[in-house]
Amino acid sequence: MDKNHSFDSVARYYDLLTGIVFGKSIRRSQTCFLNNLSPTSTVLVLGGGTGWWLKEFLQQKPGCRILYVDSSSEMLTRAMKAVGDNSRITFRLGTENSIKEVYEFDAVITFFFLDLFSHEELRSVIAKIKVSLKQNAHWLVSDFTNTTWWHACMLLVMYSFFRISTGLQNKNLPDWTEVLLENDLHELDQKMFYGGFIKSALYQTIE
Ligand SMILES: C[S@@+](CC[C@H](N)C(=O)[O-])C[C@H]1O[C@@H](n2cnc3c(N)ncnc32)[C@H](O)[C@@H]1O
Repeated sequence: MDKNHSFDSVARYYDLLTGIVFGKSIRRSQTCFLNNLSPTSTVLVLGGGTGWWLKEFLQQKPGCRILYVDSSSEMLTRAMKAVGDNSRITFRLGTENSIKEVYEFDAVITFFFLDLFSHEELRSVIAKIKVSLKQNAHWLVSDFTNTTWWHACMLLVMYSFFRISTGLQNKNLPDWTEVLLENDLHELDQKMFYGGFIKSALYQTIE
C-alpha cells in the first residue's frame, strides 16, 4: 500500500462515530446528488469506506457498474457485506495509484477522501484520477470546508484524532475546490450541511 496510514483500526466504529458527531448531516451530504448520476453509469468510488449507501444505489440504478477502491481491508470487508452478492460491483484493495483504467468512468465519487491529502498531494491525486474519466464525466464530492473559527477548531480535533488512530499524516484541509477548478472541473450544483462545515458538490469535467 502506498499510503502509510490505515483506517482498519477505525472501520468497526467509523459510521457510529460520524453519526454521533454529525447526526444525519454526513449521510444527507453523501446522498444528495446520487440521483444526478445516469442509471447506466460506470462509476469509480474512491476511499468509499463502509459503503452503507451502496445497496440502495445499485437497486435504484440497475444499469450501473461500480469499481470500489479503498486502502483499508476492514472497510472493504464491510462494504462487501453491505452489498451482498452483486456482479455489478468490483472491490479493489488499493489507492488512487491502483487505478490503471484509462478513459473508463462516467463518474467518480469521493466522499471525505480529498481531505486526506495536502494541497500539493491533492494536485497529483486529482490529475491522476482525471485520466481514468471519460469526457464530460461527473465528479461527486462531499467534504469539509474551513470558512469560520469553529470549522478550524473541529478540523484541528478531527485531524488529531485520525493522526493518532490511523497514522494519517496530513494536518490541514486542502483547498479542494481550488484544485478541482485547476483541473478543469466545473461546479454544476452544491449544497451545504452542518452549518456550512460540509459541502457536497456535483462537478463535471470540461475539456
Ligand atoms: C475518512 S474515510 C471516508 C469513508 C467514506 N467515504 C465515508 O464518507 O464515510 C476515508 C476512507 O478512504 C480510505 N483511504 C485512505 N487513503 C486512501 C487512498 N489513498 N486510496 C484509497 N482509499 C483510501 C480509508 O481507508 C477510508 O475508508
